[in-house]
Amino acid sequence: MKNIVILISGRGSNMQAIVDAAIPGARVAAVIANRPDAAGLAWAAERGIAVLGLDHKQYASREAFDDSLAAAIDAHAPDLVVLAGFMRILTPAFTARYEGRMLNIHPSLLPSFPGLHTHQRAIDMGCKVAGCSVHFVTAELDHGPIVAQAVVPVLDDDTADSLAARVLTQEHQLYPAAVRRFVAGELGIRDGRVGGVGATAATQSLQVPAL
Ligand code: GAR
Repeated sequence: MKNIVILISGRGSNMQAIVDAAIPGARVAAVIANRPDAAGLAWAAERGIAVLGLDHKQYASREAFDDSLAAAIDAHAPDLVVLAGFMRILTPAFTARYEGRMLNIHPSLLPSFPGLHTHQRAIDMGCKVAGCSVHFVTAELDHGPIVAQAVVPVLDDDTADSLAARVLTQEHQLYPAAVRRFVAGELGIRDGRVGGVGATAATQSLQVPAL
């Protein structure tokens, strides 16, 4: 049985999708948030999952917080660490510690639009498609070998909220599928690239009308 530790900062809808997927051969050992009031913590606790709120504001430095976070994660002997809306910049020591066993989901088609306000930036650029990416975490923010992507159309009357909602429904499909592939041992990184799940997931969710 593989242990998964999920890190969140807020509502945790991606965390919920992964828990609800009940991935064979894996258990969600703990959900940890950097905000003690993160709504997702209560949801996980109600389901008997170990939860912890570790308030980053109580730490003098990013390094000190990441050290505590790593200790809390390691207490659950994780095979995989899943960042699910975890809105923190991580130190290089932290990302190195979980190299090859830490995934993130980002609501854009990386390498476009790393960072914040991705949906508004895609609309402002006149993008015709948007989407989400699951990737292995490296020291560079929202970078790292891409595991899977899903694509949605950007509509003329989209707002950041309407586009975010369309992308989020894809996130909830894509992330559990990617975690399932990791748990099954199907995600190898070679020459900085991941084979396998990406092409399939993107093709299945491609709903962009032809011009
Ligand atoms: C999701 O859209 C996720 O892709 C994004 O935050 C949201 C969290 O929602 N993550 C990032 O922007 C990371 N750079 P959730 O808490 O309901 O899963």
